[in-house]
Amino acid sequence: MSLHRLSGDGVALLLQTAGDPAVVHFGADPGALPGRESTGPVLHSNYDHPLSMPLWPQASAGWAGTPLLEGGRGGRDTSVRFTDPEVRRGDSQLVLTATDAEAGLELETTVELLPGGLLRLRHALTNTGDAGYEVRALNTMLPVGQQATELLDTAGRWSRERSEQRLPFVTGTHARTGRRGRTGHDAPLLLAAGTPGFAHRRGELWAAHLGWSGNSTVFAERTADPSRALGAGELPGTGEIVLETGQSHTGPWVYFAYSPAGLDGVASRFHTYLRSRPGHPRRARPVVLNTWEAVYFRHDLDELVSLAHAAAEAGVERFVLDDGWFGSRRDDTSGLGDWQVSGQVWPEGLVPLISRVNELGMEFGLWVEPEMANPDSALATDHPDWLCRARGDRLAPTWRNQHVVDLTVPEAYTHLFTALDAVLTDAAQAGAPISFLKWDQNRDLTDLASAGRPSQHGQTLAAYALMDQLKAAHPGLEIESCSSGGARVDLGVLEHADRVWASDSNDALERQHIQELTQRVLAPELVGQHIGPATSHTSGRTHALAFRGITALFGHFGLEWDIREARGADRATLHQLVGLYKKHRGLLHSGIQVRADLGDAAFSLYGTVAADGGEALYAFALLRSSEGAGPGVIALPGLQEEKTYRVRAIVPGREPGTFIHREPPAWLEDGFTATGSYLSTVGLALPALNPERAILLHAEALEAL
Ligand code: DGJ
Repeated sequence: MSLHRLSGDGVALLLQTAGDPAVVHFGADPGALPGRESTGPVLHSNYDHPLSMPLWPQASAGWAGTPLLEGGRGGRDTSVRFTDPEVRRGDSQLVLTATDAEAGLELETTVELLPGGLLRLRHALTNTGDAGYEVRALNTMLPVGQQATELLDTAGRWSRERSEQRLPFVTGTHARTGRRGRTGHDAPLLLAAGTPGFAHRRGELWAAHLGWSGNSTVFAERTADPSRALGAGELPGTGEIVLETGQSHTGPWVYFAYSPAGLDGVASRFHTYLRSRPGHPRRARPVVLNTWEAVYFRHDLDELVSLAHAAAEAGVERFVLDDGWFGSRRDDTSGLGDWQVSGQVWPEGLVPLISRVNELGMEFGLWVEPEMANPDSALATDHPDWLCRARGDRLAPTWRNQHVVDLTVPEAYTHLFTALDAVLTDAAQAGAPISFLKWDQNRDLTDLASAGRPSQHGQTLAAYALMDQLKAAHPGLEIESCSSGGARVDLGVLEHADRVWASDSNDALERQHIQELTQRVLAPELVGQHIGPATSHTSGRTHALAFRGITALFGHFGLEWDIREARGADRATLHQLVGLYKKHRGLLHSGIQVRADLGDAAFSLYGTVAADGGEALYAFALLRSSEGAGPGVIALPGLQEEKTYRVRAIVPGREPGTFIHREPPAWLEDGFTATGSYLSTVGLALPALNPERAILLHAEALEAL
């Protein structure tokens, strides 16, 4: 039996494993299989065998597109032929192994069907030859349906991560190569191929994500053969991955999702899988206050205690002290790398602040950036050899006045572990524990090298290892992956971190887009989303508190401004927003994420529906002025047809200027009752909002009331 099937949650992967393993199908589960295969024709002016989409695309088998493997031994053994795999089968896993004895290589491919119907694949290559073998590329590809004629992925920059780009799936390779040494603000978090105009809940699509935080390629490829495929792999530098005899290299997981019903279907597969992981954060996600935009580098015990009081009063549960607590770090030109509490600004150490924070009922978190150093630091001065140098004495140009510390140098790694471990241990021993690290990484790592050899692979693995080692030494410690905002957001780092910081933009309007795109892959509880100051520090835009609060609500909610400024009505609204998060976080962090496809993109309607359909919370926002006189009747996606729901509007703070009407819709005060079927087909006449305003809609099934 050489046809293998992995199927579940409406998805199937059919693999023909005799000879050259071929992907017969990846997509909707076809149910019962026919008695024989429908092999294609042998074409004119072509190979003398029918063409199929290989699991292992190899030139040696006639593949002319992007190959599985590129590498060699100084020009030898560049042609490799893996065929006739041995197949081991688990419940939802296939492991295929093959040997090319002449080339001196062994390949092992693991294919897993994950909870939620997400698929992931990775390859491991072992050198069995008698000389070093250099791996230049080890790619993973799966075919998509011929009906997938449109591509969608994300670009971006600092404070505008994950901006969407759509393009036709034409012949050739659309490759998104990342050579920043980190995932990058511009990384394609998701590369999707689908039917024309596929949208939130419309269209059939396939999507790929690479779980790796270093250099990478994610690509869509269409050839005349004919095939359309999505693929991804790590992008090692020249001479970076050289396997000595007996050594193996395992590539990162590449995740593939199929959805018959738009991007919501893809998100649901990723979220279900992420939530099934043993290490997924299960404890209620605490309300965070991060001090960065409140005080920046102005660290002062009295000021921060006063901020902590305001935070506790507002209902905050985790207080995070950002950059500036260590060494000579009074601004971003000095001290980075010196992980000792600054005696200048913290003469009695951090314990007085942490204790006060704890007494106020909050956990304490601390900012670190272990992978970097300012040239003006003890680390850089005492150990110049620990800074990454591409060649001789040549350091990469500075970025935010900093260089990259070479974590692949064992002494540098150990020094960093020891220093950070001491900060955590000292605090714990003083009865003032630090339970959260905001782990930053504030520059690109282009031309990254160790001892003159490219080192993005080792550097990335060492950063992961440092996170793991600190967590192992301090059970319960949580880590946030931050990288100049959201430049390290991927499922690779999320095997080691507990949430990501999506962006340095706390402008609610920008955040609406950034969070939507981030949550196409990440479950909302993994995405840090904070209410920033009224006037955004990055964009200069001013937004009402309810819009900022509703925008932050559908994720891991927090505050990032000097909330002592919130007085009068704003203070009451802030309390209400924190209360809403606490009341609904169980739903928001376990439910199914939905987004409506609306004719007018000025409007946005999204939400979370409980897995049992018992309730749902939606945000309805007007992002810019709309051409229409009002939103009209809008359907609420995701409700269970047979249930009857009461829908109530929640208007935090009832802020003036939220609505534009002479009279509100009649149901706005008392709610509206209808079946799920009615609400998700006909819908509800929604209120007319002013631009950059939002309200919440809470739908509760009547039997649950
Ligand atoms: C960049 C981060 O994204 C910010 O939130 C803040 O932590 C600064 N670094 C601190 O330097």
